Amino acid sequence: GSRSFVPAVVIGTGYGAAVSALRLGEAGVTTVMLEMGRLWDKPGPDGKVFCKVTNPDSRSTWFKKRTEAPLGSFLWLDVVNKDVEPNAGVLDKVNLGDMSVYVGRGVGGGSLVNGGMAVTPRRDFLQEALPQVDMNEMYDRYFPRANAGLGVSTIPSDFFESTEWYQYSRVSRAAAEKAGLGTVFIPNVYDFAHMRKEAEGTAPKSALDGEVMYGNNHGKRSLDRSYLAAALGTGKVTIESLHHVKALRQESDGTYVLTVHQTDGLGNVLARKEIACKHLFLGAGSLGTTEILLRARETGALPALSADVGGGWGPNGNVMTARANHLWNATGAKQSTIPVMAIDDRNNPVHPVLAEIAPMPAGIETWVSLYLALAKTPERGTFTFDRVTDKLGLTWTKAHSEPAVAAVRSLFDRINKANFTDYRYDLFGSGLNNFAANFCYHPLGGCVLGKATDLYGRVKGYQNLYVTDGSLIPGALGANPFVTITALAERNVERVIAQDIRA
Ligand code: FDA
Repeated sequence: GSRSFVPAVVIGTGYGAAVSALRLGEAGVTTVMLEMGRLWDKPGPDGKVFCKVTNPDSRSTWFKKRTEAPLGSFLWLDVVNKDVEPNAGVLDKVNLGDMSVYVGRGVGGGSLVNGGMAVTPRRDFLQEALPQVDMNEMYDRYFPRANAGLGVSTIPSDFFESTEWYQYSRVSRAAAEKAGLGTVFIPNVYDFAHMRKEAEGTAPKSALDGEVMYGNNHGKRSLDRSYLAAALGTGKVTIESLHHVKALRQESDGTYVLTVHQTDGLGNVLARKEIACKHLFLGAGSLGTTEILLRARETGALPALSADVGGGWGPNGNVMTARANHLWNATGAKQSTIPVMAIDDRNNPVHPVLAEIAPMPAGIETWVSLYLALAKTPERGTFTFDRVTDKLGLTWTKAHSEPAVAAVRSLFDRINKANFTDYRYDLFGSGLNNFAANFCYHPLGGCVLGKATDLYGRVKGYQNLYVTDGSLIPGALGANPFVTITALAERNVERVIAQDIRA
């Protein structure tokens, strides 16, 4: 294999990685980003880059023979999932025992597949999660910077109140109000001017055409259109896609050396490379970053890593549930894939929950109200690493999810009671399931700030080694995480560039 040296390497191209690369590039530091997924810029045979949720093909899924959409069933029929050719598709589901974690694969990481919900967390919740971080600085400086960099806005209320595409949200709002619960608008990175044109028929449809989890062809400001575009614009940053970081070690002069496999879209290894650098930023996400560090610790490559690496993990209290509405409360055959409203019970002293009103873009009337609820609970898991099998594990069991389910059940029992409605039991796999807490979209923790790292993401035990992503935030935030990941990365990289790189 070949060996090269660059001053700075960033692993991954998600939120933390993209922020770090942009600011390094602006500071004049030559930086290479390594991403195991594809660069999503070439149209397939249908002329589109990404495929729809309702019609998945080999672009949808990361090396699986069959798609693994979370709403696999309807009336217990497996109608959504399809057999596909194993390929470097955009959405992965990593199965870790009783918990499965969905992650984005490609240049842009989770921003390619997520719902775009851009939530600044409640100040008291963030303070509780990151007690040593200065909240004034976060809310006065870094959240505004993150929201501007991401291109966050809120749906105009005249459009929301009048369009058929958000009938499903208005029906859920009315049901919540009957139980005395309030709702809030949830900001998003989707371009609502574009969405309005989609509704009017003057722009190509994306959110209004069932696109989201396997990528949006239009409208969504994913990172490749925001932070990553800006990073490339500095002229100092390059992105190597289909480059999978396999191992990390350090030489006696402090240089970090990465073993990297360059692959094709079918998973064949095209080249084995060694990429050396002085400053190394880990932005491979909660699972990816923690795996790289655990492997290094457990194989003895970086023996001084803290025992806290692997700890503090949680699924952000993710619980999905669904209600069956009365026949006179149709939720609409037309549903925008971009969620813009949540039922807000965060003030509940026993069971604080933010329940986002999710679409069910089936293309037919289903009378279903679907929710992604975020419960703020203290259960945490720990990642493990098996040297023999070279596999990441997680100590999360079904019991760890039960307090979050109990919180969400308490909220939706109230809503059902006030509306004389019931749960849907047929949507989450075989058997009678009205709650799905065995998968998550929001993995958090593994290299917690102030535990596995110092208060700015510097990995304990080593110099010039940094964590920048969702693994810094312990287990539950009471808000969707990407705005916080972005803001925290902005805060940390500013300090690191000033103190470790410019100095
Ligand atoms: P992120 O996971 O974004 O990026 C990590 C990148 O590193 C990936 O591109 C990965 O391929 C790459 N990588 C990993 N290991 C590697 C290795 N060894 N070598 C090279 N590359 C490697 N959040 C939110 O705030 N609002 C929302 O609406 C949603 N909705 C949502 C829906 C779905 C379906 C998902 C899957 C997720 C969400 N999320 C969300 C969660 C959000 O997307 C997530 O929190 C962030 O993407 C996490 O950002 P990070 O920077 O931590 O890593």
